[in-house]
Amino acid sequence: MGEKQASKAGSAADIQETENRIMKWLAVKVDRGRYAHSLRVMKLIPRLAEAHGVAPMPLRLAALLHDSARGMSDEEMLAAAERWKVAVRPLDRDCPVLLHGRLAVELARRELGVNEPAVVTAVLYHTAGHPRMSLSDKLLFLADMIEPARRIERVDELRSVSFRDVDRAMLLAIAINRRHLAARGRPMDPVTLELEQALTS
Ligand SMILES: [Fe+2]
Ligand SMILES: [Fe+2]
Repeated sequence: MGEKQASKAGSAADIQETENRIMKWLAVKVDRGRYAHSLRVMKLIPRLAEAHGVAPMPLRLAALLHDSARGMSDEEMLAAAERWKVAVRPLDRDCPVLLHGRLAVELARRELGVNEPAVVTAVLYHTAGHPRMSLSDKLLFLADMIEPARRIERVDELRSVSFRDVDRAMLLAIAINRRHLAARGRPMDPVTLELEQALTS
């Protein structure tokens, strides 16, 4: 469908056309709040990419796609994971929303033909992180947490650190998530702990 080409080397008009098509697709996948959040992440990410010398285009696309599976219920997520042979850990069974990055990658590939590696890994790892995240993957993870409507604890601090020191921002983001999960009696994804270890070693 040409997304790969358009997001990498296409003309500005091609890119705009691809983004418009994906925005229409997303609008029927998720509710208005989630849609607006995705657009805010997409708008913010070029600034973050510029601050860190990263190509903005695959990240804009990843931002649009990252929460596309959030419109599914827990049951639908588990059923889709089974249908698409996405590995489901016991933790995912308890908390199916943990699957939404992996399912978004499947939706993008199956319904839009998007499989550009920089888009795939950013979407894949935005939920819990990953010890081998690229700089570009980390920028989506952070943009998701600092987009202007976010009201999480220490968000202003996270916003400013995100523009200065990505790994320090990742550690702060993990600390914020840890407190958030603990307050809800939920465990941290072990993949996030592996990422934390990779960032501190
Ligand atoms: Fe998400
Ligand atoms: Fe998000």
